Amino acid sequence: MIEMTIARIADIVGGELADITAEEAASTRVTGTVEFDSRAVGPGGLFLALPGARSDGHDFAAAAVASGAAAVLAARPVGVPAIVVSPEPGAADAASGALEFDTDGSGAAVLAALAKLAAAVAAELVADGLTIVGVTGSSGKTSTKDLLAAVLEPLGQVIAPPGSFNNELGHPWTVLRATPETDYLILEMSARHPGNIAALAAIAPPQIAVVLNVGTAHLGEFGSREAIANTKAELPQAVPASGVVILNVDDTAVAAMAAKTEARVVRVSREPGSEVDVWAGPVALDDLARPRFTLHANGGEVEVALAVHGDHQVGNALCAAAVALQCGAGLDQVAAALAGAGPVSRRRMQVGTRADGVTVINDAYNANPDSMRAGLKALAWMSRQSPGDLHGKRRSWAVLGEMAELGDDAITEHDAIGRFAVRLDVSRLIVVGTGRTMNAMHHGAVMEGSWGSESTMVDDADAALAVLRAELQPGDVVLVKASNSVGLGALADALVAAEDADDRNADR
Ligand SMILES: Nc1ncnc2c1ncn2[C@@H]1O[C@H](COP(=O)(O)OP(=O)(O)OP(=O)(O)O)[C@@H](O)[C@H]1O
Ligand SMILES: [Mg+2]
Repeated sequence: MIEMTIARIADIVGGELADITAEEAASTRVTGTVEFDSRAVGPGGLFLALPGARSDGHDFAAAAVASGAAAVLAARPVGVPAIVVSPEPGAADAASGALEFDTDGSGAAVLAALAKLAAAVAAELVADGLTIVGVTGSSGKTSTKDLLAAVLEPLGQVIAPPGSFNNELGHPWTVLRATPETDYLILEMSARHPGNIAALAAIAPPQIAVVLNVGTAHLGEFGSREAIANTKAELPQAVPASGVVILNVDDTAVAAMAAKTEARVVRVSREPGSEVDVWAGPVALDDLARPRFTLHANGGEVEVALAVHGDHQVGNALCAAAVALQCGAGLDQVAAALAGAGPVSRRRMQVGTRADGVTVINDAYNANPDSMRAGLKALAWMSRQSPGDLHGKRRSWAVLGEMAELGDDAITEHDAIGRFAVRLDVSRLIVVGTGRTMNAMHHGAVMEGSWGSESTMVDDADAALAVLRAELQPGDVVLVKASNSVGLGALADALVAAEDADDRNADR
């Protein structure tokens, strides 16, 4: 953050001082980080008192101050120096995506104050030369954010969110990590409702925006793909005329956003085209489905070998490359940075090969129909032959759980994924869970299949692990994927740990 006095922060957020005098507030500076976890607060920090599942942050205010916090941003006095804010009309709705446990609006009040503080800090840093890069899309925001951090790092100091921080809490929290030394601030922006992305962009207006794709993630909440597209378009709409909007035009809904922004548009595609600025040409995959292609841009070209897995990463990497080129990177610099950028965020296409030759693709962090197809295609590719090929095709296992939040389309989409797995010739599908949606996936596979044993239904992750432990053979490839709430990540971890884990083969 920028160092600020408690008095100035109170002024920015419109809060009242409690348990601190005006004089003290005017002379005490917040010099540390802003934290919502009291254990993370250090000297000079600012602690956000937010409601959680099991406890209320207000109960940890004293502990945060004992750990060095200069003050607490809270919804009521807490007996230690605090800036107290009260709920505003509508704030609870705006914060609903980020706070599940906000029963009295206190969380919304603190989040609204956090947004104001982040906006003030962002404005000051931008005036001082900071470049903000915003990324949205239905799938691939975190993957692209990680690639972006890698390609921008050679150009200056980068702040990017850890993991998938992308909502009304994680986004402003990330903004507040930026300091006067920061050159590039990368922000992941997600939406559950129309207006969410516009609100995030208003906190920290991006000079460069990336739109990856418009899929069906959270379709249940939005109602239609068009509504999702309109919400994603809030990002290019927020970029000023002096800025740049990077569009993945292989998605027609994204391509159409060119008409919705005043900013200069840079078009990115897998293929060359009259209007395309950055493109890949033919893509080859190595044995672990890492893409290689020629990157074309600015009248030049360079060979790129990605260190992340799956053909779907091509579009993500092209968008990241386009941003870096806009920021002044050379093609060789971009290629080198991409080659060194392996999987960073946990449980997203993390590939490891055990000592016994079983390859596990841990993609259990989340799932929607698009990312399920992307994961299954990577599985099919990796199993198409054994590395060094002595035994022909490797057996492939898809251990799949529910895709959450698909609304009325849930049954059809699960059925389609079951069919898709069989069409890709996945050797064994293990459907984890026995509800209606998983039934649909299982039956989709059985209907599409020919001998009836393509799919096995199990009650839960433990049962799936038992089947795998009993039946996996050296050389098999296993994809583990579901929405995070299903909890298959632990299964994937256990699977890798099961045999003297060894991820040498995942490294280059
Ligand atoms: N461009 C893409 N198209 C389809 N699937 C993708 C794409 N990029 C990544 N994925 C897959 O989508 C899943 C989620 O990836 P990632 O975490 O990068 O997305 P996200 O947009 O950040 O998701 P969230 O909305 O949960 O934050 C992973 O399984 C990943 O392999
Ligand atoms: Mg994410």
